[in-house]
Amino acid sequence: MIPLCIPEIRGNEWKYLKACLDTGWVSSAGPFVDRFEREMAAYVGSPHSIATVTGTAGLHVALKMIGLQPDEEVIVPDLTFVASVNAVRYCQAHPVFMDVDSQTWQMDPEKLERFLTTECEPRESQCFNKLSGRRVRAVLPVHVFGNACEIDRIVDLAKQYGLRVVEDAAGSIGVRYKGRHVGTFGDAGVISFNGNKTITAGGGGMIFTSDPERAKYARYLTTQAKNEGLEFFHMEVGFNYRLSNLHAAIGVAQLELVEEFLEKKRSIAKRYNEAFRDFADITVMPATPHTEAAYWQYMLLLAAGTTIEKRKAVLKGLFDNGVAARPFWHPIHSLPPYKAYQAYQIEHSVRLYERGIGLPCSVGLSSNDLEKAIATFKKVVTAVLSQSCVG
Ligand SMILES: Cc1ncc(COP(=O)(O)O)c(C=O)c1O
Repeated sequence: MIPLCIPEIRGNEWKYLKACLDTGWVSSAGPFVDRFEREMAAYVGSPHSIATVTGTAGLHVALKMIGLQPDEEVIVPDLTFVASVNAVRYCQAHPVFMDVDSQTWQMDPEKLERFLTTECEPRESQCFNKLSGRRVRAVLPVHVFGNACEIDRIVDLAKQYGLRVVEDAAGSIGVRYKGRHVGTFGDAGVISFNGNKTITAGGGGMIFTSDPERAKYARYLTTQAKNEGLEFFHMEVGFNYRLSNLHAAIGVAQLELVEEFLEKKRSIAKRYNEAFRDFADITVMPATPHTEAAYWQYMLLLAAGTTIEKRKAVLKGLFDNGVAARPFWHPIHSLPPYKAYQAYQIEHSVRLYERGIGLPCSVGLSSNDLEKAIATFKKVVTAVLSQSCVG
């Protein structure tokens, strides 16, 4: 089986892990945690960074850090990994689902503007949702699949309506929008180092912010909200979310190779795009205008009008022929825990889900396996389409 997206371990991971074991720095303090934070901050161009156990934990803390309160609302895209939305619920706040743009597959700034203009009202310079009566506190745009949202438009709208912005850049290391790394435009941004990401720490996340007070607060929250001093004294409920030195050691080693890994991701996407651009009315993976995309995941769309059954048949055909593939994320508004929440004019996230497929894109994908994935995909799609013509 050609895997979908697996880690590439071939740098200084062993050496740095051995240094942790030899020195006894194996837990939530140690030189690699500080180094990983420093080097990631420099890499994305953020004044402050706070390492966390996972990207999800990073999003949870980022939302606390911007002051999100229970019963407030956060606008989230309907096309994302569920972790973006779960983080909102961890704060006992409520998601409002926003559609994505049909061309970029990212949160639609025009619909966002329409929602804020027509469905919300200002009260004492705060933004309230007319339907729910709740305060809308923040927008959580997600830079989906290693591409970027039109984050400058979203940040401008948020400013206009007095909202905070937490960017979920979990899968978007290496993505630059108008020359600036994503995750650094909003009040906070988060990158993930889960095993399927372009670089991994085995698991981990990083929060970015330009505000020193917020950075201090996030660090405090991730370390059990322990006050300074020898005695354990806590003014509020904190979390045990600090990344371990072992994980950070892997992250530092991976970061040393990030440009090489990104080059490989981009070359895989380029080859798929060339192979499928004129095949079976496929829509190849887009890059948002003004974006240097990183193609963490390689995704494409089957021809317009493809039914979900046909898309499932293509996925099955790929698996049966040794190629791991995935559908797009299920539209979050229709998942059981989220059915009761407001979904604003959702249309494209559902259409994309029906037609979308992700193909193998590991950094270590050999050119033989890449060509095999392309040939298999073409064979399977042709077979599935011809079946439907006959039947
Ligand atoms: C868009 C998005 N947000 C959040 C996460 C959560 O990151 P983690 O797995 O590090 O908790 C992921 C991870 O896949 C993701 O893709």
